[in-house]
Amino acid sequence: MGEVFALPYAYAERFPSGLDVVTDAGFSLLALTPDASAESIDDLTLGPDEKVALVLGAEGPGLRAETMDRVGRRVRIPIHGQVDSLNVAAAAAIACYVLGRGRPG
Ligand SMILES: C[S@@+](CC[C@H](N)C(=O)[O-])C[C@H]1O[C@@H](n2cnc3c(N)ncnc32)[C@H](O)[C@@H]1O
Repeated sequence: MGEVFALPYAYAERFPSGLDVVTDAGFSLLALTPDASAESIDDLTLGPDEKVALVLGAEGPGLRAETMDRVGRRVRIPIHGQVDSLNVAAAAAIACYVLGRGRPG
């Protein structure tokens, strides 16, 4: 909960074109999806100085095809075969932890 008060927020008027602000700032985008055809987060390799921004979808429909196309790189957190998907906050927390390990600050 405390982290919520430390994170800066911005609102994109248009989406996914609003993601251009993020890539223009030097971040590469990763679309988080439970889709089994996406790359496993365990196999993901990032450059040592690569800055990434995670793009997550809504609880019901997930990310739109238009957003998937804009982001390009799709990453999944492995889940049990009977499970449809993770809650979006849980997925974000796991991805931040996994991708943040061993990286500065
Ligand atoms: C409840 S899920 C939406 C489920 C939706 N049926 C779908 O296929 O994306 C909400 C969001 O959490 C993230 N998410 C949930 N499970 C995930 C997983 N196993 N791997 C990566 N991201 C996941 C995705 O960003 C997803 O759009």
